[in-house]
Amino acid sequence: MAPLTTAVRPFACSSVSGKDSRRDRSDRGHGGNRGQNQSHGEPARANLREDLLDHLSTENRRPLCPAIVLIGDLHVIEPSIALLLSSSFPGGSSDYYRERRSGEQRSLYTRETERQTKSRFERIYMQSTSAAPQALPPQAVIVQMVMGGWVARAISDVSRLNIPDQLKKSGPMTAAELVAGGVDANPEALQRVMRACASVGVFTEAVDGSFGLTELSDVLTADSPLSVKVIAQEIGGLWLKLWTALADAIRTGEPQARQVVGMEWWDYLKANPKEMETFGEAMNSNSLNSMRGVLDNCDFSKVKKVADIGGGFGHLVVALLEKYPNLRGVLLDMPDLIPVAKHSFAVSDPNVSSRLEYMGADMFETVPRADAYVLKHIVHDWDDERCLRLLRNCHANMDGDGRLICVDSVLPPTGDIGGTAAKFLDLLMMLAIRGKERTRKQWEELYDAAGFRIINITPLQDNFGTSIVEGVKQ
Ligand SMILES: C[S@@+](CC[C@H](N)C(=O)[O-])C[C@H]1O[C@@H](n2cnc3c(N)ncnc32)[C@H](O)[C@@H]1O
Repeated sequence: MAPLTTAVRPFACSSVSGKDSRRDRSDRGHGGNRGQNQSHGEPARANLREDLLDHLSTENRRPLCPAIVLIGDLHVIEPSIALLLSSSFPGGSSDYYRERRSGEQRSLYTRETERQTKSRFERIYMQSTSAAPQALPPQAVIVQMVMGGWVARAISDVSRLNIPDQLKKSGPMTAAELVAGGVDANPEALQRVMRACASVGVFTEAVDGSFGLTELSDVLTADSPLSVKVIAQEIGGLWLKLWTALADAIRTGEPQARQVVGMEWWDYLKANPKEMETFGEAMNSNSLNSMRGVLDNCDFSKVKKVADIGGGFGHLVVALLEKYPNLRGVLLDMPDLIPVAKHSFAVSDPNVSSRLEYMGADMFETVPRADAYVLKHIVHDWDDERCLRLLRNCHANMDGDGRLICVDSVLPPTGDIGGTAAKFLDLLMMLAIRGKERTRKQWEELYDAAGFRIINITPLQDNFGTSIVEGVKQ
């Protein structure tokens, strides 16, 4: 059977009657839109949805929270819905569907796919019912929200055990098989934590107790091009510890790294090379999308020299040098990080390495001369006073009609409740390092005070709602 390819799409809530489910459908524009605006495979799926709701509203009148799930080919999903119905609504919906849609299904509708699909679909059905916020009373929503820290910890710990990488190699396995294969865990405890992770969609769970990879656990594997493995481990590991001190941060307005890890955040990283390396990897694993955003949205064809300030291991500056063969680049970061960067992200191409300089320095003291400065996930680390010092350094050393390119979140204005990821990242900045995320107005004020003018803000599709904030000298 084709693998699961697309996420759950709940389209009705668990407590609606047939009448309500009709209303829900028309509210969302499905009612009079059958088969329109659909890409490949969509018309049949839309029809299925209509038929399913009609069928339920007229014949069963039972609570329902179905989900449309794409499992490879559309035609595979239809028997899965029929099977779900047959188990949820004893009385033969499965036969009903088989009969009505047999022309489309027959070729794929074998007993084997039926069994597998049923197990997958039931899992997703449960997921969709628990994920549908409107189906839960407020007290349950809040309780599940505050359990978020538990979820973070469970996901980061199974990732630390390399379970997703293992499942990617081997295919579905039970916890006992994983342990027999060398995973350092108690089989029952591992089964329980994987079962919990499967309940939020991180693994598939089959009736034989085996767990498989989903889209969510695929990005927890090291070799996924979208891998967030290391940052997921940091968020659910070291960074999560900082949150135990949130009350003190709220009370004092001061960062709490000293209370949690015994020293200021950056000093702690300097004193712990392993943590420094993991931090660098986490940054990189997080910022692949924002890096791609800079490559795709910013034109460096007229730039002679770019300085990547606080550039970590140098992934961005190296990618820029690869894209622009005449560009020269400087990677500036803390002196202790430079050897780690050279080791962890060694540049083997002499055409690139010959145009790349490393500079171990304090960016608040000095920055190299350049005609473009890139500060990716830097400004949000610092308070206004430090940022001003840093941006003024860039201004003073900028050659010609240079450009300042900061890549960070731009928070929605007051009164707009969007931007959840950036707003929670803002709290981490407050907790760890006296940093903050900024609104557009705050960005404008900062640029203005440092002698720059914003010419462009380009929002990116990344993990934290980041934008490229591009400026030139006033
Ligand atoms: C949040 S990370 C961002 C790394 C990278 N730009 C990215 O987007 O993945 C912040 C970086 O700033 C560096 N940094 C912190 N304080 C610094 C300082 N005073 N001078 C130079 N670099 C510093 C850290 O070592 C780290 O690499």
